[in-house]
Amino acid sequence: MNPNRRTTIKDIALAAGVSPQTVSRVLNDRPDVAKTTRQYIQKLIVEMEFSPSAAARNLVRQRYRRTSFLPGKIWNDDEGHPIQAHGGCILYDNGTYYWFGENKDTPTKKNSLIGFNVEAVGVSCYSSTDLYNWKNLGLVLPAVKDDPRHELHTSKIVERPKVVYNDLTQKYIMYMHLDTEDYQTARVGLAVCDQPAGAYEFLGSFSPNQADSRDLTVFKDEDGKAYLLHSAEWNKSLYVGELSADYCQTTGVFTRNFINASREAPAVFKRQGKYYCLTSGCTGWDPNAAEYALAENILGPWKIIGNPCLGPNANQTFFSQSAFIFPVSGYSDAYIAMFDQWKKEDIGSSRYVWLPIRFEGERMVIEWIDEWDLSIFGS
Ligand code: DGJ
Repeated sequence: MNPNRRTTIKDIALAAGVSPQTVSRVLNDRPDVAKTTRQYIQKLIVEMEFSPSAAARNLVRQRYRRTSFLPGKIWNDDEGHPIQAHGGCILYDNGTYYWFGENKDTPTKKNSLIGFNVEAVGVSCYSSTDLYNWKNLGLVLPAVKDDPRHELHTSKIVERPKVVYNDLTQKYIMYMHLDTEDYQTARVGLAVCDQPAGAYEFLGSFSPNQADSRDLTVFKDEDGKAYLLHSAEWNKSLYVGELSADYCQTTGVFTRNFINASREAPAVFKRQGKYYCLTSGCTGWDPNAAEYALAENILGPWKIIGNPCLGPNANQTFFSQSAFIFPVSGYSDAYIAMFDQWKKEDIGSSRYVWLPIRFEGERMVIEWIDEWDLSIFGS
């Protein structure tokens, strides 16, 4: 064969002894191909360096194009693969949204402490300009395969990555929960990059505010100051700690909040001068009732308001857990709440629930909607 000629679907079909239609079905992730045939064809696709033409890729993109949010339904990227960005966050940068999250695309295994877990794969990043359609930019902080002592080793826990931009240093700063498999180490990991979409340089880990740190989020205020909110004291309390000007350390100024209330999965935003903090209870992968609190100052005191969820299964947060809340660019008073709908026995197939926030005065309501789009926020 001419070495400069692109491998075609016909070439793969010939090598595999199947029809071109069967190769197409494998390329399109159709379920109706026997597993061994599928694996053989996939191997040939890699070995023969098949890459679809731009026209074919566009066709696939058209097929997976979305114009609405479908909470709890499989959410594919623009090439038709389920999005792997759990416990994630959104960064809006120069007209593009970046969705960072845990890639959990690996088999679920039993874990003596929390029932089930997966090996770390790393932090994924996806980009979008409309929030419905996402392009996979790959792993921006991959797990480390060959050094079992490394904090990002596949045997470790890498959860809830959060990225903020630092205007002074012009760097993108990623915080994440790092842990050993038994969740006993409970540290904060830090990685930085000059661009939003990686590759991030891992700087190491630390114990913020002289405490343990599990679920976390980072909030950047309008004045450029940023804060780390982390579940501490074995998840019993939620600490809010100020970050240094470069966002790479805690300053030592922090408060203990929701003491002995066992709250995790914090998601924070600011509206009309008030801070909102949405959290979940502490029941592993299982859902529980969400709760939110309001404060005039991010360091507190926080006033607990109650469960903002409304509709079927609102007391179990629609079978999901808070991940992040962000304002939508181009709309006024428009915020989206992101949740993870964990599937604990097959964690990699966990789904996402994104819902709009409605305000009644300063109270917030997150009501279940089967399908919605940004027009809900008005023009
Ligand atoms: C709840 C946390 O919010 C998740 O990020 C994860 O750590 C699970 N617990 C593990 O059980």
